[in-house]
Amino acid sequence: MGKNTNVLLSVTDLKKYFPMRKKHLFQRERPFLRANDGITLDILQGETFGLVGESGSGKSTFGRNILQLQKPTEGKVLYYGTGEGVELTALKSAQLRPLRKDLQIIFQDPYSSLDPRMTVGQIIEEGIATHRFFRRGSVEMRNYVLRIMGDCGLREDMLHRYPHQFSGGQRQRISIARALAVKPKFIVCDECVSALDVSIQAQILNLLSDLKEKEGLTYLFISHDLSVVRYLSDRIGVMYLGKIVEQGKADEVFDNPCHPYTLALISAIPTVEEKQGEQILLHGGMPSPIAPPAGCPFHTRCFMAQEICKRIPAPLVEVKSGHMAACHFAKIPLREKQVRAMKK
Ligand SMILES: Nc1ncnc2c1ncn2[C@@H]1O[C@H](COP(=O)(O)OP(=O)(O)OP(=O)(O)O)[C@@H](O)[C@H]1O
Ligand SMILES: [Mg+2]
Repeated sequence: MGKNTNVLLSVTDLKKYFPMRKKHLFQRERPFLRANDGITLDILQGETFGLVGESGSGKSTFGRNILQLQKPTEGKVLYYGTGEGVELTALKSAQLRPLRKDLQIIFQDPYSSLDPRMTVGQIIEEGIATHRFFRRGSVEMRNYVLRIMGDCGLREDMLHRYPHQFSGGQRQRISIARALAVKPKFIVCDECVSALDVSIQAQILNLLSDLKEKEGLTYLFISHDLSVVRYLSDRIGVMYLGKIVEQGKADEVFDNPCHPYTLALISAIPTVEEKQGEQILLHGGMPSPIAPPAGCPFHTRCFMAQEICKRIPAPLVEVKSGHMAACHFAKIPLREKQVRAMKK
């Protein structure tokens, strides 16, 4: 596949199946949990791609797989950050090492992801020393660390303090500084503001968006909070049971959701004003990814489901340029979908 003008990462048919224990001794086949079940998407240079979906839909698995923190079961991840496309899944760990600094991740919980025995300075220095930008203990190193800290809103006097001496928001700034210090090209932000108070969330989101502009970064922004994703993302993908069910420009998807699942998620966002439409309640929980439903995986909870949905999976098709949805009825106008949802 040729490289599209400004693609940074091109993911093709990515699958991650976790082997599970057999339920009983005589069960013939070993069951698998399909955490990612055939994801194809491009992440463009300089964009924020938002990934949303309920808990357990496979968002974090996707993030970890593209960074090769976990080997995918199947599929390709082409990385174009070095010019020529490199197929990451084919690399051995020694070959991956020099690329590691390009591909960073910031986690939800800045408590467990920062080593409590290291000072802020040491935490930020670690990656820099590993990738040999500067020598530990040198003046250049110290100045560089202080500059990165300043960029992330951390004061100089925090250099020799330990993570437990900071608030959640400050700790998240330390995680961001650590990721940023190695001059990455791509950062997976996995629920990176979900554990913070709303006012602190806004500060961290602003910091992330300033840094993105300044450093020319590309983000995969994972969150189950749709308002946060809308605020930050250029494009979004909606995940359900390990698959992308809708994808497109953020405004497009929010203003004209084509998949009934996306419509339901959006209708559940709390708003300050009176709600125009009512909230769409989905019946039942998400089915198990060990035995996903036949046909369209969403049909068991869908207010639009017909016979065909139980038998035939709906492929991801383009509804409008760049806006795709995996629903047999994607093209039915939004208003009519809302009416059907209310009738159920
Ligand atoms: N190492 C693992 N072994 C077995 N199953 C796993 C493993 N990691 C994830 N899973 C399963 O894969 C599915 C997807 O998990 P994942 O963490 O990617 O979801 P998520 O969308 O990030 O959810 P959340 O919003 O709760 O973070 C879940 O059913 C989860 O239990
Ligand atoms: Mg997750």
